[in-house]
Formats: sequence, structure tokens, C-alpha cells
Amino acid sequence: MIAPLFVLFDYTFRPDVVAPEDAVAWAWEDGIRSADERCLAPDPYASRTAWCHARVAYSEARLAEACATAPSILVNHYPLRQDLVRLHRIPRFSPWCGTRLTEQWHTRFGARVVVSGHLHIRATDWVDGVRFEEVSLGYPKHWHRERGIDGYLREILPGPATPRQTGGPEYHR
Ligand SMILES: [Fe+2]
Repeated sequence: MIAPLFVLFDYTFRPDVVAPEDAVAWAWEDGIRSADERCLAPDPYASRTAWCHARVAYSEARLAEACATAPSILVNHYPLRQDLVRLHRIPRFSPWCGTRLTEQWHTRFGARVVVSGHLHIRATDWVDGVRFEEVSLGYPKHWHRERGIDGYLREILPGPATPRQTGGPEYHR
């Protein structure tokens, strides 16, 4: 069962000492501010956080029903877990990268693979035996055009069954 999701961010991808409502100010201390603050209108919701939480509630109900009988592939623009957000150059961009409410969706909804983008940093990770694929193309300045598009396509299924069979680092750009 392939589940295309549209779960947003709610500013909860931040250190525990920073309250979600302070996350934008915390990022701005480093000069970081997402264009989403200007360009992503939450209407008819009161805020992007409210929009995110409405999407989480909607998807949770749908996934609980749909995943009861079949393994799933969860596909979301944003990564579902904060520990997969590794923004070494701009760590305070994390508030715009997802919501902690999806932290356990990979086990809760029987995911075989979780697919995301958004970070522009290609990676494969394994958490609780579930494969997480960040499948963006990266930024144009990082592209290796000689690889062609085939060099950028990621096999989702069947894919490697376990981390050991990847034969290389589990995290790669
Ligand atoms: Fe994005």
C-alpha cells in the first residue's frame, strides 16, 4: 500500500530546550528564516501548525484503516523523524522540516520503506529495521550530470532487505 502523505511542519524539530512557539526566533538568532514564513499561507487554518495538526489527524485515521491489512510505503515531502534531519551548515533550519508527531509512524503503520525529500540531501537510513530514503536530487550545484538520471533513481522495492546488504555506508549523499 503506497500512502502519499501531505503532512507539514509544526516547528517541533528543534532542541528540547526551545519551545515550538520560540523556534522561529531561535532560528533567526542564527539569521535563518524559511521562505515558508512568507510564502506558505495556511488559510483556512489559523496557522501552519494548525494546518499540520489537521493533516496529521486526517492521515492517522486513514493510515490506521488502510495499513491494518497491508505493509505500507509512506511517502511524504518532509522527513518523518527529527533524527534524520542533518543540516550541518544550517542546523537551525530544522523547525521547517517536519513534526515530531510522525516520529513512530514507520512502526505504527507497518512501513517497509519511508520516502521523503525536502532536505536536498540524499540519504538512506535504517530505523527499527525500516528503510528511510531521502530521494531528492540535491541542489543543481551538486549534480553529477555524467551519472544521468539512472544514477539518481532509488529502488524502493524490493531494495536491500537489511542494512547489512547495502555493502556500504548507510548514510550517503
Ligand atoms: Fe521542501
